[in-house]
Amino acid sequence: MNAPWKPGPGGRDPFAAFICDEAALDTLRPVVIEMGWQPEKCAKGGLRNAVQSLSVAASPNILMVDLSESGDPLNDINALAEVCEPGTVVVAIGQVNDVRLYRDLIASGIHDYLLKPLSASQLRDALTQAQAVFSAPKSNDPDAVKRHISTAVVGTRGGVGASTLATSLAWMFSSDHKLPTALLDLDVHFGTGALALDLEPGRGLTDAIDNPSRIDGLFIERAMIRANDNLAILSAEAPINSPLMTDGSAFVQLEEEFRHAFEMTVIDLPRNMLINFPHLLADVNVVILATEMTLASARDTIRILSWLKTNAGHAQPLIVANKVQPGVAEISKADFEASIERKIDFTIPYDVKAAANAAKLGQTFAEANRGTKASGAIRQLADRVIGTSDEESAGDEPAKKSLLGGFDFKSLLAKKDKPSAKVDA
Ligand SMILES: Nc1ncnc2c1ncn2[C@@H]1O[C@H](COP(=O)(O)OP(=O)(O)OP(=O)(O)O)[C@@H](O)[C@H]1O
Ligand SMILES: [Mg+2]
Repeated sequence: MNAPWKPGPGGRDPFAAFICDEAALDTLRPVVIEMGWQPEKCAKGGLRNAVQSLSVAASPNILMVDLSESGDPLNDINALAEVCEPGTVVVAIGQVNDVRLYRDLIASGIHDYLLKPLSASQLRDALTQAQAVFSAPKSNDPDAVKRHISTAVVGTRGGVGASTLATSLAWMFSSDHKLPTALLDLDVHFGTGALALDLEPGRGLTDAIDNPSRIDGLFIERAMIRANDNLAILSAEAPINSPLMTDGSAFVQLEEEFRHAFEMTVIDLPRNMLINFPHLLADVNVVILATEMTLASARDTIRILSWLKTNAGHAQPLIVANKVQPGVAEISKADFEASIERKIDFTIPYDVKAAANAAKLGQTFAEANRGTKASGAIRQLADRVIGTSDEESAGDEPAKKSLLGGFDFKSLLAKKDKPSAKVDA
């Protein structure tokens, strides 16, 4: 988890906002209270007031500033940069819906840009994320160089969205958190890592599998495809007429090199790879188990969790229910949790429009749909992974024992020929 906010040195406030209109202030203040900050720090005013105020006072950790009354936002942001202390995470607000302006603002060091009218959930997501960025180790912190978090994303069944999560997380780590990130897509024949980012996979991964002894820092520099300044990917579309010929040593070697060259590794790890090459998890810190709320997924979540306990006890499992549609699930959340004897850590709603948008834009699900609930949930997942310390052991969440007890799969499967067999044990 993210470290709770502690007052910083020099008496810096955790948060301050300069907002032009009352409606936005009314939406913001309750969220600020929820975050444990002082609502009085939400002042009426815009960018100019922020510049005036910060030129004579210490900068807050997180600054929210309204650009609505600024004639030349980019220029004014530069004026703000001159009075703002380094390390302040700035979230801008405005009413201009223009992708170019958004990109220019991000390029000028703004952390996020929110469009008016504001909603509480949008503010909550943006502020939680800004807080995570503020408390994450900074790249000029010498300790940060040694830190590396390796995350494997495994689907309990095919098509549950494991690759969607892997690519979205890699994009968030690299773009929102500015952490050097490697995405390793181990779905060697059918991988979608490159496709999701609108890139050609190239031959890098295939070469690595063919010649594991050649893998070194120089090799990965040349073989990986750059997706943005902080994200490099290794993916393949291996010909489907040739089986995978590897003992897995290339993958282990790649993981090892990534640990030196990046701060984050995300591995899209198909289930069969887990079975064939269990040593791939030897140095993985977090295993994200992507699942749907179905009977088969519940069974395989149980099986994979148990496998992880035996084979990768050091890795922290996180259960992520994806494509969740209220009232349409094959199994209810309570029954699912009772059967796996554990809580679901994150729930991502089914959002077909968002999936279509990502495909249309050639961007990851999270990048293409920043304001959506689904991306908000993925963002929280990203924050959680970043907050994982290397020492954190695989502590299972306390089992949530439902009054119904666990599922009896035998009896459930016996009932499977009854079309309306309900899963309520
Ligand atoms: N929350 C969601 N809402 C709607 N569609 C989604 C969601 N998450 C993923 N999808 C869509 O589901 C499809 C399958 O996703 P994805 O390829 O990520 O699954 P996977 O688990 O990696 O599949 P595979 O088993 O083939 O590797 C994709 O078309 C993706 O856009
Ligand atoms: Mg996949």
